Amino acid sequence: MLAMKKLFSPLVLLPFVLLAFIYFFVFPNDFRLQSSLATCAGTPATSTTTASGTARAAAEVRVLLGVLTRADTYERRALLRLAYALQPAPTRAVVDVRFVVCNLAKEEDAALVALEIAAYGDVVVLNCTENMDNGKTHTYFSTVPRMFAGEQYDYVGKTDDDTYYRLAAVADTLRDMPRRDLYYGFLNPCHTKPELQYMSGMGYIVSWDVAAWIAAAGELRNDTNGPEDKVFGRWLRWGGKGRNVYGAEPRMYDYLDAAAGQKPTCFRHALAADTVAVHKLKDRLSWARTLKFFNATEELKPFVPHHVHNIY
Ligand SMILES: *[C@@H]1O[C@H](CO)[C@@H](O)[C@H](O)[C@H]1NC(C)=O
Ligand SMILES: *[C@@H]1O[C@H](CO)[C@@H](O)[C@H](O)[C@H]1NC(C)=O
Ligand SMILES: *[C@@H]1O[C@H](CO)[C@@H](O)[C@H](O)[C@H]1NC(C)=O
Repeated sequence: MLAMKKLFSPLVLLPFVLLAFIYFFVFPNDFRLQSSLATCAGTPATSTTTASGTARAAAEVRVLLGVLTRADTYERRALLRLAYALQPAPTRAVVDVRFVVCNLAKEEDAALVALEIAAYGDVVVLNCTENMDNGKTHTYFSTVPRMFAGEQYDYVGKTDDDTYYRLAAVADTLRDMPRRDLYYGFLNPCHTKPELQYMSGMGYIVSWDVAAWIAAAGELRNDTNGPEDKVFGRWLRWGGKGRNVYGAEPRMYDYLDAAAGQKPTCFRHALAADTVAVHKLKDRLSWARTLKFFNATEELKPFVPHHVHNIY
């Protein structure tokens, strides 16, 4: 009797549930399943706009924004989830933020990231290894057209986990832009001839047809030598793609740490109200100051420990 009870207690079942998740999400063969769950409407996908079906259908612009990150950056991912969940939802637009990791090679990551996927449904697992040189960007852009084929995204973006995008600003900017052949971001290096520039790794967005072209152009697989975002620019130039080039500067920029003696440059300045994205948010303090500046913390009531003196 006791044994039976034990057998069916939820704790005993947990390893089996975990195994099931690991099997489904880590097994690299079934991208279709990963994608259907990554965008699962039933789970609280907090880092997205969680648009309802009708809002999605009515949206004028749909963006998939992948935050390329490593499985083991748990704290940063938790912070980003909060930061994006608390942003005001873009109007008549869908911007889905997804965390993008390579194969979950470590035992602890396989289990713990599977829990995140179960709870939030916002992690995409690519078939790649994390330390591969420059291959992750290629794998990302060549996987999403297939993985999210049913989602009708207009654009796909790539960013890092030290960048904070303002999703409504992104949506409003893209709304009036070409739906084809778009290459949008921060033109880097600044003050350089246009033919030598590419979009900085702080984050860039291309139209869906550009990603589909990357997925189909097998030659690119052999051309991954060099800084990956510079390489990305080289691909587009080689293929004659992304010809609608839009530089978002000065609305995209690096965070200026005045206390550390940093001075403004062509790629760095103080926080500004019309920001699309701010980059180089390396520590908790820079995140805290940035979120405060954009009033993300405004609505939060200060925690008042009423009964603290009664506890002990
Ligand atoms: C994953 O990548 C490896 C190495 O490139 C490849 O051999 C394998 O076939 C890929 N698996 C899938 C499901 O695409
Ligand atoms: C990539 O390089 C390998 C080895 O040099 C070669 O065998 C292959 O044909 C190349 N693939 C493409 C698509 O160019
Ligand atoms: C934050 O809120 C204040 C007070 O309402 C306002 O003056 C300011 O413009 C807001 N900042 C941003 C970046 O929207």
